[in-house]
Amino acid sequence: MNDPRPHPVASEAEVEAAWHDTKLAQVLYHDWEAQTYDDKWSISYDERCISYARDRFVAVAGEQDWPYGESLEIGCGTGFFTLNLKLAGVLDKTYVTDLSPGMVEATKRNADNLGFTVEGRVADAERLPYDDDSFDLVIGHAVIHHIPDVEKAFSEMLRVLRPGGRFVICGEPTRYGDFVARRLSRATWWLATRAAKLGPFRDKWARPQEELDESSRAAALEAVVDLHTFDPDTLARMARRAGADGVHTVTEELTAAWFGWPVRTFEHAVNPERLGWNWAMFAYRGWQRLSALDRFVRPLVPDELYYNVSVTGTCPRFPR
Ligand SMILES: C[S@@+](CC[C@H](N)C(=O)[O-])C[C@H]1O[C@@H](n2cnc3c(N)ncnc32)[C@H](O)[C@@H]1O
Repeated sequence: MNDPRPHPVASEAEVEAAWHDTKLAQVLYHDWEAQTYDDKWSISYDERCISYARDRFVAVAGEQDWPYGESLEIGCGTGFFTLNLKLAGVLDKTYVTDLSPGMVEATKRNADNLGFTVEGRVADAERLPYDDDSFDLVIGHAVIHHIPDVEKAFSEMLRVLRPGGRFVICGEPTRYGDFVARRLSRATWWLATRAAKLGPFRDKWARPQEELDESSRAAALEAVVDLHTFDPDTLARMARRAGADGVHTVTEELTAAWFGWPVRTFEHAVNPERLGWNWAMFAYRGWQRLSALDRFVRPLVPDELYYNVSVTGTCPRFPR
């Protein structure tokens, strides 16, 4: 059966229906986002993002068993995690899935540009279209907070994993981390959009009103697609209840998130042409230094205060 086609422009009636249907909202929102997603999140396929993806993976799952023979990604987006982990030498043969046809197409396009082949399918992580025992590794990045039944998604990951195979889910928002990040972002948006319209800055710094309105509409739909934040212990319990062995979680980014979210919001709030290479370096180096500080203060700070949570575990070698 052929995959559905991307649907980047939604009608008013579809958007209205999406308010009451979270899966439709995911498809409309992410098909629309697929066109600009890499720019919006500064995603690249070079050393900067390769090391970011590899470090998130290693922090929770270590470096054993590389390269994993056959891996499947759920909610692949434009391919950030799979393609950068492939470039890092973590993965061999790669399969990707996403509920949004536009995202699957974007991953395939990015893979083509890098000279790789990925098998991509449009699929819901709650019902994966693969046989039992098909993969050595299942990965996901910033995806399970979009999935209504997270425990069902873990059961599906375990079903398609071979006995002893591993799942690695990174970059999910913690409850407290998300609370702080959203407030910092909202305050930054409010301040930056107003300051950019003031007399001396208006010509060079303000973004056109229609672009700001579009960002606000996108932010409104975000409220429908972002379904969960996680407490690390509760997340681990969900994975264990689904049947996983050896489950453990890691949290990362405290001050780095307090810096990173306002920086990213500022970048969307003002004319991007004003922010050149120096700004990009300031943002990246600032985030790196604060991440190092966050690792240093790790023993003093409770896990759940950090912004990102990652979880890993394995498929039992013997049926329970
Ligand atoms: C925040 S994006 C993350 C994309 C990518 N993993 C990354 O880190 O850049 C979340 C992705 O999950 C997908 N998604 C949402 N609900 C899903 C579901 N039930 N099954 C599979 N993918 C889903 C969205 O279409 C979107 O591409």
